[in-house]
Formats: sequence, structure tokens, C-alpha cells
Amino acid sequence: MSSGRVYVTRRIPAAGLERITAGGADAEVWPGAPDEVPSHHDLVAAVQQADVLLSLLTETIDAAVLRANPTLLGVSNYAVGYDNIDLQTATAEGIPVGNTPDVLTESTADLTWALLLATARRLVAADRYMRSGNYRRWGPQLLLGYDVSPGGDGRRKTLGVVGFGRIGRAVARRARGFDLEVLVCDPSHRREIDDEPGVRWADLERLLALADFVSLHVPLTPATHHLIAAPQLELMRPTAILVNTSRGPVIDEAALVAALREQRIGGAGLDVYENEPEMAAGLQQLDNVVLLPHIGSASRGTRDQMAIMAADNALAMLGGQPAPTCVNPEVYESARFGQRLASWAAVRGL
Ligand code: DGY
Repeated sequence: MSSGRVYVTRRIPAAGLERITAGGADAEVWPGAPDEVPSHHDLVAAVQQADVLLSLLTETIDAAVLRANPTLLGVSNYAVGYDNIDLQTATAEGIPVGNTPDVLTESTADLTWALLLATARRLVAADRYMRSGNYRRWGPQLLLGYDVSPGGDGRRKTLGVVGFGRIGRAVARRARGFDLEVLVCDPSHRREIDDEPGVRWADLERLLALADFVSLHVPLTPATHHLIAAPQLELMRPTAILVNTSRGPVIDEAALVAALREQRIGGAGLDVYENEPEMAAGLQQLDNVVLLPHIGSASRGTRDQMAIMAADNALAMLGGQPAPTCVNPEVYESARFGQRLASWAAVRGL
């Protein structure tokens, strides 16, 4: 049992909150409306009252937030991505950071495929067409899209997967069912790509030039910011479809809007945006794009498991134990972490 207070920055599924209380801790949830996010001021005030902060990807956990409480025992992020957290400062300050990997891999890979297929076969436009009462009779030219499997022309299509972490691999695995050639680019996983049956390594330029479908699965880092910008879009086939279920700033969204508007690529399926929840000017007026509100992991089962995982990380942090899924485990070896734990115990008279 771990006593203490976990401050949850926005409401997560009940399974997570119940897990925290069953573990002996208190869970306090920021009281704002479900579609609002706490301000920076709210976060600083919250962290000062917390032993552990359980944050969502919508919250920017910067140095000011991290330094607002010298006895904070950890930040447990309810997401696999943690680009919303200043990890360098957290590590320097001896603060462990947890995330929620694995449980969302398959759901996100499913959603990626749903988005790819919906974009290629124009499902959203077709749905709109039906709802607006435009369907009078079947026609040979009605809502033509692109084949994903070899289809009518019998040509095997190529999927380019950029990023070969858990989700990239799960997306590549599903490509077998569509008889796709799979090219993968991820310099940090070169050996796994070479060892993986059914996929071939390609550098980014080659992958972009050859792929019918390009799917992005990289974390957001300074190296992946605008990985796909105007020069990369120029390399793509005029019929290619770009799918992004990773992080919005991996694409230069203004450059993408220009490429889509001028039909220099075939289409795009986006679940994430450069300045989420905003969209680049002109994006929503285009009909060669399918737009989703960051729902890659949004299945009931997965979101419950993410909440439980985030709760377990928070409980471990409260107990001074290594969090089961910690993204900066080196912190546990640091003197700064030891001091932090000792000051926390001293403040509580333990
Ligand atoms: C994540 O976990 O990083 C996703 O973007 C939301 O589930």
C-alpha cells in the first residue's frame, strides 16, 4: 500500500482512479470540464499539492511545473508518448517519468489501418454523399479511390513505414493481409528491420519515392520535428497517401496543405496535428484528406488499461519503488532522486 496524493490533471477512466485508491493513495482530479485543460498556473498549483502528478498528453509539464515541488516523487503520463514532458529537467531533478507502452500498440495499429483504408477508398466522402441524399444510382465513376491490395490492376502496392518501434511493427505486420510490399525506415532499428521477415530497409528518400502509402510511427523529438516537409513531400508519388497517427509536428502541416491542394500527392489521413487541436489553414476545406481527433488508442479496453498502467506507475512512485514503465530509469541511480525521497519522508515525518 502506498499512501500519498496523486494529482490527476484531467479525468481518466474510473479503472485508473479506483486502482489508485485501492492502492491506499488519494486521487484528486482537476475539476475542469472534460474538454478543457488546466492552465500552466493550475498545473503549478496542483503539483505543489501533489506527491505524484498523473498527467495527460494535453498538459505541458515544463521545468517550472517540475521545479514547483521539491518533494514531487514522479510524473506518470497517461500516454505512450511523453514529448509533453521536459524529460531532461525531470531527470536532472531526480524525478521519474512513467508512460503507458504496449497496451495501446494494437489499437493504434488498427486505427492506422482504418485511416489508411478510409483515405484510400474515400469512406468519409462516401458517407457524406449518402447522408446528403445524393445517391441516385450506382455509377462506374462514383467516388473512385485507390486500391490497397493488388486490386484490379494486379500491381502489388508498397507501404512505407517510418519508425519501427512497437506500433510501426504492428502496422507492418497487418500489411501481409493486403499483400503489400513493405519498406521500413528507422536508423535506430536497422538490425531488427534486416531480421524481420517480409519487410525491407529503405532510407527515407527511397521509401518516399517508392511507397503508395506512407505511415509515420516515430516519437516527436528535435530530430523528427518536420521530418516530412516540402522537400520530402516533393519526393512522393502523385497518388501516394500519407498517414500520421504519431505526433502532429512530425509533418510540416502548412507544406502538406499545399501539396494536397495542388494534388501533388494523392491524399492524407491524419489523427494528429501540428498545433493540436488547431488545424493548419485550409486543411479542413480539402476533400483528399481524412481528419480524426487523435483517437489512435481510443478503444474502451485500451483506455482502461492505460489508466491502470498510469495508476500502477503512480503507486510505485509513491512507494519510492521503480515505476514499472519508466522512461528515465537512470534517475533511480541518481543522488538527486535519493535526496528527493529523503526530503519527502522528512516532510511527512517518516
Ligand atoms: C499516446 O499514448 O501517446 C497517444 O498519442 C494517445 O494514446
